[in-house]
Amino acid sequence: MPALAAFSLLAGALTATAGAAATGGLDIAIGKAVFDRMWVQAPASTKHADGLGPLFAARSCASCHAGSGGRTTFRLGRDDPASHPGLVVRFGDAAGAPDPVYGAELQPQGVSGAAGEGRAVVSFATASIGRIATPEWSVADWGYGQPAATTRLSPRVAPSLAGVGLIERVDEAAILAREDADDRDGDGVSGRANRIVMPAGPAIGRFGWKAAEPTLEAQAASAFALDIGLSTALRPDSAGDCTPEQTACRAAPMGADPGETEVAEPLMTRLVAYLDHLAPPPAASYNPRGARLFASVGCGACHAPSLALKGGGEANAYTDLLLHDMGPDLDGGMGEGSAAPSEWRTAPLWGLSRALAQGSGLLHDGRAASVRDAVAWHGGEAAGARSRFAELSESERNALLEFVNRL
Ligand code: HEC
Ligand code: HEC
Repeated sequence: MPALAAFSLLAGALTATAGAAATGGLDIAIGKAVFDRMWVQAPASTKHADGLGPLFAARSCASCHAGSGGRTTFRLGRDDPASHPGLVVRFGDAAGAPDPVYGAELQPQGVSGAAGEGRAVVSFATASIGRIATPEWSVADWGYGQPAATTRLSPRVAPSLAGVGLIERVDEAAILAREDADDRDGDGVSGRANRIVMPAGPAIGRFGWKAAEPTLEAQAASAFALDIGLSTALRPDSAGDCTPEQTACRAAPMGADPGETEVAEPLMTRLVAYLDHLAPPPAASYNPRGARLFASVGCGACHAPSLALKGGGEANAYTDLLLHDMGPDLDGGMGEGSAAPSEWRTAPLWGLSRALAQGSGLLHDGRAASVRDAVAWHGGEAAGARSRFAELSESERNALLEFVNRL
């Protein structure tokens, strides 16, 4: 169904049914329309589609997750971070506190007289791992003066959303069972859950490169607030990531009347239904030798081939959803939730073949051009696996890479 048709349908249906369950297919179609929706500046004649910004990084979810929830093609060193869709720069100090002027994310664009915050720029230091140089991030043309001295830049690529519904359904007990914060088994791999404090109580983070969001709704609310500048029940501020220091932004017209949110609750429900419905990547081809090496080298200590779902079934996502200290080379300087700057969520490896086929850079900032490069950046808790990988014979290493390349 075309986005506009779904929206008009919903506009009428919402008032009429007031929360009554619609058919699943219609919910998903409307959710997709919300995902694809190009939000516009308030005030607009289409009330349910305005409220963009005033500061924003993109106008729709689909601008960063193109192709119905795909990963961005951004690759560090090849693509310009200032103009490539799906590359986001987060702001925060070592404990995760946002910048007092710029907030939690760089929004390069503004409407209603609010100036954009600046342009992401990257250069490469001479110190390098093998042939890969260490990236150094900065912002050109800061729109509101210098940020706080403690503010760090944390670039992140938009991941694929295939299978996020299963990630949400992974049994919390299955995640916690793999925690080994003090490395009692002495394998060098610890891993701990990102424990988040939500208004409803404590929760375990699952989504984002630092597992800072516990649910799809929370992740979508964060995207609406930080990326697009829209308010939701979980993040009710219509000005999104505008801080009190950004006065033009605070004074701009908003897309919701007092007491309402720019994204109405029924739209959020449908959006979550759409995300939940995105099929997981197809199962990888059978490769017993590669799979055995993946396990024996210790990749599987973090990239767990299977996690049990609540209510039965499993997610073959190749992640434990835990945070691991990945060493100084992947330390971005910014914490998030209970995650330290050097800690990252084990990246799910399902769907990696698609990312490689479309030329996406791997790792949180897209710095690795191949699986071999990605492994070369693994340090900290993954240092043991990296050296066992390096010690494999050429034929074994190729078998392992072949296995991962086809996930
Ligand atoms: C400006 C680019 C951008 C826009 C717009 C955007 N995203 Fe994202 N998305 C990202 C990035 C970058 C991440 C990784 C975030 C992190 O690590 O904190 C992400 C992560 C996610 C995740 C978590 C995936 C995972 O595996 O953990 C979900 C779900 C998601 N986005 C949904 C959405 C939805 C829904 C919207 C629209 C409301 C949206 N995104 C808009 C860039 C974007
Ligand atoms: C100690 C836990 C740990 C071990 C062991 C480990 N990884 Fe990782 N892996 C991670 C984390 C955490 C990330 C995300 C790091 C980042 O983005 O900065 C990651 C990212 C990756 C990525 C990039 C995925 C993407 O979507 O961009 C690949 C590929 C990968 N690992 C492969 C491997 C292979 C192959 C091995 C074994 C040689 C291995 N890993 C061992 C934790 C681990």
